[in-house]
Amino acid sequence: MPDTTLTTLQGLKQKGEKIAMLTCYDATFAQACCQAGVDVLLVGDSLGMVLQGHDSTLPVTNAELAYHVACVKRGNQGAMIVADLPFMAYATIEQALHNSGQLMQAGAHMVKLEGAAWLAEPIRLLAERGVPVCAHLGLTPQSVNVLGGYKVQGRNEAQARQMRADAIALEQAGAAMILLECVPSELAEEISHAVKVPVIGIGAGSGTDGQVLVIHDMLGLALTGRSPKFVKNFMQGQASIQDALSAYVKEVKAVTFPATEHGFSA
Ligand code: KIV
Repeated sequence: MPDTTLTTLQGLKQKGEKIAMLTCYDATFAQACCQAGVDVLLVGDSLGMVLQGHDSTLPVTNAELAYHVACVKRGNQGAMIVADLPFMAYATIEQALHNSGQLMQAGAHMVKLEGAAWLAEPIRLLAERGVPVCAHLGLTPQSVNVLGGYKVQGRNEAQARQMRADAIALEQAGAAMILLECVPSELAEEISHAVKVPVIGIGAGSGTDGQVLVIHDMLGLALTGRSPKFVKNFMQGQASIQDALSAYVKEVKAVTFPATEHGFSA
């Protein structure tokens, strides 16, 4: 059982204290993140891009995710570990149950699924069987080929209404956390108020209950040399990686990150 549990995160939301989350793929960084005070470690399928060098997250397998969860678990010092179910690993209910079981047995405390209202059924079944679920809404990178690129979602009123309704429906289905990626700041704040579960944002402004970034991005390590607008390079002005991680946690908790310039408007 980690020191940071779902109850801890709920308590932080109720007190208005922000949750600091970072992606993490190995034991050394897990230890460094914990020492910096990161609450939640996300073993994201972004590892397909930042570790494996692919141009999307689609090639990542559940076995690879489970391997990295096990690595993170060995370095973890009390953070909650959330693991992504990768592309097509939850296309059917049977796959969702089987692959979530593998990630939980490797050391995850929660799994994350990308989608919309259709996630209600797998979320309900997983939650009933003891698997907490984070529902990832907004820009869902596993659907990049459907979305036509990595674009801000929820910019028009119909899309915004749908995203609000999806978040509420997925909370009702049993989602324990919601992640909003590349969503206008105002909409992300509204959704955070509309649900009781913690809402974590990436490119979603400062009004969510917490923040997440890909660790390579916030350390200024972009393979392409370009970072998205919502990323801040926390290595700037810091003497070490450990200091940069601590600066991130401090800025998330103080709500100085993200600044207005890191967010999107409708
Ligand atoms: O895979 C990942 O790292 C993610 C974050 C970008 C939120 O889902």
